[in-house]
Amino acid sequence: MSERIRNTTCFIRSRLNIAPHRYYTDMPGGAVETGGLPAPQVGIVLGSGLGALADSIETIGTLDYAEIPDFPRSTVPGHRGRFIYGRLGGKYVIAMEGRVHYYEGYPIRDVVLPVRVLCCLGIETLIVSNAAGGLTPLFQVGDIMVIEDHINLIPNPLVGPNDAVLGERFSDMTQPYDRKLIALAHRVAREQGFSLQQGCYVGTTGPSYETPAEVRYFHTIGGDAIGMSTTPEVIVARHQGVSVLGFSLITNALRRSETSGSPLTHAEVVEASGEATPRLCALVSEVVARL
Ligand code: HPA
Repeated sequence: MSERIRNTTCFIRSRLNIAPHRYYTDMPGGAVETGGLPAPQVGIVLGSGLGALADSIETIGTLDYAEIPDFPRSTVPGHRGRFIYGRLGGKYVIAMEGRVHYYEGYPIRDVVLPVRVLCCLGIETLIVSNAAGGLTPLFQVGDIMVIEDHINLIPNPLVGPNDAVLGERFSDMTQPYDRKLIALAHRVAREQGFSLQQGCYVGTTGPSYETPAEVRYFHTIGGDAIGMSTTPEVIVARHQGVSVLGFSLITNALRRSETSGSPLTHAEVVEASGEATPRLCALVSEVVARL
């Protein structure tokens, strides 16, 4: 395992007093320490729309990204930067409040470092969320889409030497998002009185929003929603054998803005994500409880 991933994982573990996971104990000369709190079972990336879930976590400890040596920090206003370790729905979880994006200028390996570390801490399931533009005319602002598949148009984070301790050189991506978890999400949403959309997320670099021609193109190639995050994180989680569940909160309808000609702003995206947040938070809490 790369020094950086190992050192960062060890630092976070020791600061949050989390017991070592097999990545360490299996390795020749691996960690011999025992004790500490249980490894988190679930990792949650609190993207736009899930930020408020942080309040539902019975917090055991938090760690600001700024305190972690050589750790990427978001430059986007409104994105906090810290890990929250605690309990949610009876499970030990670790949440990332804030993520970095490729468009901020970080190398792709830095962008995925936090998720790499969550996987090394021992999570079995990763739940990711994002704000996204709706590519299909069927989606409305405020809809929640469970991600069924994705098209990654951000550089692939597995390019470069493969770390065989983490995963295989040629990583399987036939089921990037776990079908059983998707079915569970639909079931829970129905019980909570709403229905989820389901579709394919296109991950692009941004940071400019799409032109009308690009909107038509991304829809034609199979995309239902588009955003600037998530796909590299999912690629590394799958590389490390972690199951993934993902949600896109539809903050703007691109097909409509294409015809209306009204400009799309980040403020609009942030505002729209706020409205659907309680639904998404309730959904994710209950899904975690039933894992
Ligand atoms: N395009 C790209 N990323 C986004 C959008 C969009 O329309 N909305 C929220 N994130």
